[in-house]
Amino acid sequence: MQVGIFASREELIRQATSYIIDRIEYDPASNIGVPTGATPDGFFDILRDAHATTDFSLEEARVFSLDEYVCCEGEKRRLFREMLVDNLVGDDNTGLLERNLITPDPTGCDLLRAADDFEKTLKSFGGIDLQLLGIGSDGHVAFNEPGGSLMSRSHIDFLTPQSKRDAAHYFGGDPDKVPEKCITQGLATIMEARRIILVAMGKEKAGAVKSLVEGCLSQMCPATVLQMHTKCTVLLDEDAASELLYADHYRLMWERRNSEPVF
Ligand code: PGA
Repeated sequence: MQVGIFASREELIRQATSYIIDRIEYDPASNIGVPTGATPDGFFDILRDAHATTDFSLEEARVFSLDEYVCCEGEKRRLFREMLVDNLVGDDNTGLLERNLITPDPTGCDLLRAADDFEKTLKSFGGIDLQLLGIGSDGHVAFNEPGGSLMSRSHIDFLTPQSKRDAAHYFGGDPDKVPEKCITQGLATIMEARRIILVAMGKEKAGAVKSLVEGCLSQMCPATVLQMHTKCTVLLDEDAASELLYADHYRLMWERRNSEPVF
């Protein structure tokens, strides 16, 4: 696992976004996985700007989300899909075609089937070339919450109270309004991505990052499964890196890393 620690968030976001831009330059028809939530806000801005000012375009690419809330009965919303449509779809964003935005659909009555269909769709497109990830303050990746199998495939999961508190700002500040359930890619599904970049910013992520980078492999911190991935890079700001014992070593290794051909 490679760890980059950045003094400025701007620099960190630029580095994270450069993996997408480089991948699309290498193969415009790549399959890119993106997180939702607060982590990717900055990268979406940079991608839109790159589309407006350079020949960067997601027109031939497919973009895959990680998860989706199951809203209350009768409410047919797909909040994360809506977020990605607003940020990425169309020529005034990044050129992504809506049909090439692949997300789970929890609006029908058969949720198990919806999770299974999502898994099958991911496979049918040949899997993810580059997956960007965030991390929850409880150590979740996508919505794989503590205690679930490290070998899970796409499934229905239940948010922990911590995840509900963290997501409350999307729901008028009230954790009780955050949906309880979601459909999420499983950890084994995520591990099949050929390249993984995880981004974490802020003090509230420091404990989860410490477990991810320096803790023991454990279903109690689902992100630790990434220790088993051979091409995983973790990009952190100083706050998120603040509990790492070997931070200086990671900084040195980052400086000395080969200018890797990433793909
Ligand atoms: P955040 O969430 O980007 O809203 O901090 C990250 C995550 O839950 O994976």
